[in-house]
Amino acid sequence: MSFETTTDMLDMSSPQARQEAYATLLAQVKAVLHGERDWLANLAQFSALVYGAVPHLNWAGFYMAREGEELVLGPFQGKVACVRIPFSRGVCGACARTREIQRVEDVHAFPGHIACDSASRSELVLPVIVDGRLRAVFDLDSPLPARFDEDDARGFAALVAALAEATDWPEIQP
Ligand code: SME
Repeated sequence: MSFETTTDMLDMSSPQARQEAYATLLAQVKAVLHGERDWLANLAQFSALVYGAVPHLNWAGFYMAREGEELVLGPFQGKVACVRIPFSRGVCGACARTREIQRVEDVHAFPGHIACDSASRSELVLPVIVDGRLRAVFDLDSPLPARFDEDDARGFAALVAALAEATDWPEIQP
């Protein structure tokens, strides 16, 4: 990998800037993960890249899918977070259960939202599905209400797909 590919905070202040920012991020994800397929290393790098480059986040990271329909905290950036989340609870659980992107404009209005950090106001959670199996969810929290729109969901879906493709995933552990 090349360290010249990492960057400071990206400009996402206009729709065009945001489109360019996601293209830049996608290129950076591919460059940073190039030559390494270890899941722990790649998820840690991905979290650090996103958290360092995407404005207005207070948490970015993974919950890993485990047997028994439970999520367990994985590599992340931000404050200490809750460790185990059943598929039946919270925004992350809803993403794992439905395997669909969850975009929550106001976390206080989401029934069952798990508040790891009281500063969080909006949230975006994406499933990581490889060969038909849910491996993890990628969770983004923002202190701004309605921080994430459909363009952000599409942008992050492309980033997560690149990560999934570039990584060897371990067997799901209990
Ligand atoms: N808010 C999430 C829990 C994880 S933290 O935000 C890091 C949820 O409701 O699932």
